Amino acid sequence: MLDTLRAEMLAVLDRPNADLYCQPHSELSPLAWHVGHAIQVEHYWLCERVLGAPTDAQTHAIYFPEYTPKANRAKQLPPLDELRATLGERARACAAAWQAAPRRHGAISSGYLRAFIAQHYAQHLEPVAMADHAQRIQRDDAVHSVALSDAPPATETVWAELPETVLQLGHLDDCGTPAPYDNELGAHTATVPAQQLAAQPVTVAQWLAFMADGGYQQAQLWSEPGWQWRTRANVLAPWGWHSDGLRVTICQAWPGAAQADAAVVGISRYEATAYAQWAGASLPDEHAWLAARLAGLLEGVGQAWEWCRNPLAPWPGYVAFPYARYTLPWCDGRHWILKGGSAMTHQPIRRPHFRNFYTAEQRHIFAGVRLCRGA
Ligand code: AVJ
Ligand code: FE
Repeated sequence: MLDTLRAEMLAVLDRPNADLYCQPHSELSPLAWHVGHAIQVEHYWLCERVLGAPTDAQTHAIYFPEYTPKANRAKQLPPLDELRATLGERARACAAAWQAAPRRHGAISSGYLRAFIAQHYAQHLEPVAMADHAQRIQRDDAVHSVALSDAPPATETVWAELPETVLQLGHLDDCGTPAPYDNELGAHTATVPAQQLAAQPVTVAQWLAFMADGGYQQAQLWSEPGWQWRTRANVLAPWGWHSDGLRVTICQAWPGAAQADAAVVGISRYEATAYAQWAGASLPDEHAWLAARLAGLLEGVGQAWEWCRNPLAPWPGYVAFPYARYTLPWCDGRHWILKGGSAMTHQPIRRPHFRNFYTAEQRHIFAGVRLCRGA
């Protein structure tokens, strides 16, 4: 698994120069940076921290995010020939280092480090897909067009009944990986009140019905910051969709994504909240989502990241590990939990317990929405 993920990341460098060094979206780093960063992180934890290899201050400065804002990353990267040579060499060194790593080292014998690095590759392969998608949207690839007046009828929401559930959270053993992130840990009990969750995520057809009903025009459906964001950015449809009020065109980069019963993808949390308001429902708290997921009540998980009601916050007993910056800087009340995963999410982070998080206005992250009510 790890070797496959590393190889997939390294193969990103086979793309043309122009695709690798441009910033594909204001929220995305250049692709070449993701490759360098992901390999650097493996090298840092395995070769430097476990095996004691010397630190190369220059590569740290280029590839650790805290040193350089996204917009400045492209110009710090070495030219492509050099990049391919040094990162290829570094990737080979990592692969060899796993063979040499001492079995008795706790992070090795427990499988922790290997799983941690695999998840980290997965987390940086998804932005690669986001960048590809951004490019296709700019080129208007694979456009699907529909008149709002004859949009397919939206199916009624099917509700699943979640009984009151006592969740045991934060135990090392039940996160579905030997390497849960620090924000999944901190053993405690949470009681989830009985409620209903939609069996399916909100679909393309349902989103068209929201648009046809003027969902983007009715301020009362939106939160105050949400309406400000919507009007300022003049958002009238999900990311990659265009609407003139009569016709909607959907540029979707993967097969089936524009189908009526596919999960809608490309919405901010502001849009998710407005939709929920329109539907007389709300967004699920992450604990309710997890309880329903573990009870087998949710269908269609893994088509779109699902925006939740609550922001990222550390759980009781939280201890930052293996470094403070993975979670703590984002516990600022502005980063909201997303659960599940998208069609572009790699296997290591497709876990019920995994907690993704982004700010409310992000739309390039393959996010959608599932409703809940009665909570
Ligand atoms: C949780 C997806 C917001 O991409 O910044 C990757 C994941 N953390 N490397 C991000 C992450 C460190 C993080 N997100
Ligand atoms: Fe990272």
